Amino acid sequence: MQAEGAAAANVLVEVKDLRTYFELTEGTVRAVDGVSFSIQRARTLGVVGESGCGKSVTARSIMNMIRKPGRIAGGQILYYRRRNGSSGSTEQVIDLVQLPPMGPEMRAIRGGEFAMIFQEPKASFSPVHTVGSQIIEAIMLHQNVGRLEARERAVEMLRRVNIPNPEERIEAYPHQLSGGMCQRAMIALALSCRPDLLIADEPTTALDVTTEAQILDLIRELQETYHTAVMYITHNLAVLAEIADEVVVMYMGKLVEVADREALLARPLHPYTEALLSAVPVPDPRRRRTRLVLEGEVPDPANPSPGCPFHPRCRYAQDMCSREEPPLRAMPGGRTVACHLAEQLELAGALRPARAADGQG
Ligand SMILES: Nc1ncnc2c1ncn2[C@@H]1O[C@H](COP(=O)(O)OP(=O)(O)OP(=O)(O)O)[C@@H](O)[C@H]1O
Ligand SMILES: [Mg+2]
Repeated sequence: MQAEGAAAANVLVEVKDLRTYFELTEGTVRAVDGVSFSIQRARTLGVVGESGCGKSVTARSIMNMIRKPGRIAGGQILYYRRRNGSSGSTEQVIDLVQLPPMGPEMRAIRGGEFAMIFQEPKASFSPVHTVGSQIIEAIMLHQNVGRLEARERAVEMLRRVNIPNPEERIEAYPHQLSGGMCQRAMIALALSCRPDLLIADEPTTALDVTTEAQILDLIRELQETYHTAVMYITHNLAVLAEIADEVVVMYMGKLVEVADREALLARPLHPYTEALLSAVPVPDPRRRRTRLVLEGEVPDPANPSPGCPFHPRCRYAQDMCSREEPPLRAMPGGRTVACHLAEQLELAGALRPARAADGQG
């Protein structure tokens, strides 16, 4: 275990009590409601939860990309910016919530120091310019180099993400690339400025399983080369079982559990995590595991019921769970959980992730 001071020194982004709300005519949607977590340098933080639980809004808040009717209603997003200059390395702490979203400082951070990749790669590219020219522009904007040098770096980056014939492909328009190739080009664009943070918001959902595995390998490999911190968002815990160091589980705009990957997989502490885990494929076909079906839908976030937000769907719920909301609290092993019953429940973990366990590609 790392000493607390050493762990703190490696923090890149610290999200503190973040609240991001949408003011709609039918009421206030508390899309993110008091969320706190840290992203460590050069590590992968996985964020998991069902559709609508606030994963993308959290990511967009960090990028300071929330637009009306949404707003960051409270909290801090502290960026520990480290710069290497002639007089050594300096650290500066910036609260991104306080920066104007379209101001020069936030624009330098967004796309330069922080990059984001999305589920739909074409959303990152303009259809009327070549993929190459867009990567070149980004490099020129954020890296302060001329066009020729930027072009060389763009070709090199396309090569790094395993796009064949990068000298030719650099002239392609987004629609001329397959889904997998476009996803690689988007990763090349995101990583071309060597960001300190890469936010990946379900970047493989639209891809087939083989391409997904290749993209995950690619992100891992690039992370090792460039020491990029990754925040990887997915509804699929099987993906995080492969790439995350630490996992944050979200439900209805709140954190319900935070733990190291190994600990979370071995023994979840929250019934919601257990249900998500039961959907992770078991590597050994002789071993059967009960698949816990999550019944019901995520409740309407504009009309939350009292008590634990998960209690209407929880198979272990007791009286108190419908009355009192459980706070997020520390548990042994540096974990946190928001469940009244965490000490009493013996929840089922997952076996080792499929690829790690059976060694097959
Ligand atoms: N522009 C918007 N206007 C109104 N409500 C919004 C807006 N964007 C998000 N929300 C609401 O915020 C909540 C969280 O949405 P978010 O997109 O973060 O979910 P998610 O966890 O990323 O889901 P998914 O897995 O489907 O991508 C949802 O209730 C959603 O309806
Ligand atoms: Mg989303």
